[in-house]
Amino acid sequence: MKTIGSVKEDLSVEKRVSITPEIVKKFTDLGFSVNLEKKYAEHLGINDEDYKEKGANINFSKEEVFKKSEVILKVSCLSDHETRLIKNKSILIGQFDTSNDKDIINKLIKKDIKIFSLNLLPRITRAQSMDVLSSQSNLAGYKAVIDSASLYNKAMPMMMTAAGTIAPAKIFIMGVGVAGLQAIATAKRLGAVVSATDVRRAAGEQCESLGASFIMVDEEEDSEDSGGYAKEMSIDYQERQNKLISEHIKSQDIVICSALIPGKTAPTLLTKEMVKSMKLGSVI
Ligand code: NAI
Repeated sequence: MKTIGSVKEDLSVEKRVSITPEIVKKFTDLGFSVNLEKKYAEHLGINDEDYKEKGANINFSKEEVFKKSEVILKVSCLSDHETRLIKNKSILIGQFDTSNDKDIINKLIKKDIKIFSLNLLPRITRAQSMDVLSSQSNLAGYKAVIDSASLYNKAMPMMMTAAGTIAPAKIFIMGVGVAGLQAIATAKRLGAVVSATDVRRAAGEQCESLGASFIMVDEEEDSEDSGGYAKEMSIDYQERQNKLISEHIKSQDIVICSALIPGKTAPTLLTKEMVKSMKLGSVI
């Protein structure tokens, strides 16, 4: 019988877990045995007993889990210590970043580990149920608005009484992919005045259909590649974008940065000068 194992994440950087009790049941039904480190998901309110009930084996230490398992599931990449523990030729599945986790990945390759990073899974129809990027971006866009609303000292919607009127908050979303669209929808539901920008022309229509205004640098050529993602922009474009955004940002109360380029460092769209130009009490 093949064995799937999973150990506790480093909770200072990752609160998610790879295996929930419902998933244990799916794996055991397929004929796998499941090994978990003790107190695997206690921080999420899931006890070892909940896992045991569904058929998982609870192990005293990380060492034991690695020793017994041929397949390891982990949300974030292994630590140096875990890299030493994982058995040669095992399979490792998770959300790894080929730029940040490069050193560890190279060490794992030397141990003949087969690594599958779900971040790199093509977003084709057949793989939609494994699209970890969309589900997490969707949550991130929502949470960014909820968090900024709680930090913002004024109201989000327009508040009108006989005693006076409070203007609605102005929220600007930079990068209208999955996270940005969810941020627009959430901010609109809270009653804010929402605007957004992106380098892909198609994002404009999506943005306006959610009731936000769209601002974008006038450009002949579209910056969307054949996979629907943004390309890295030229210096000239970045300068024109900076100019356009600088003017707009001065009047915004909340700015949410959700622009990304696959496999690259996220573009820095906010400059020091822009931050300085924003009103006191604004939220980024
Ligand atoms: P992403 O997370 O890679 O990037 C976020 C947004 O940042 C994108 O809209 C991108 O155009 C924008 N961006 C990049 N550089 C920028 C810059 N300098 N200034 C302003 N904005 C910038 O994007 P995500 O959320 O992964 O979506 C990318 C595409 O994939 C979209 O077209 C989306 O509709 C599509 N998609 C398709 C799915 C499917 O077919 N299953 C699932 C999810 C997304």
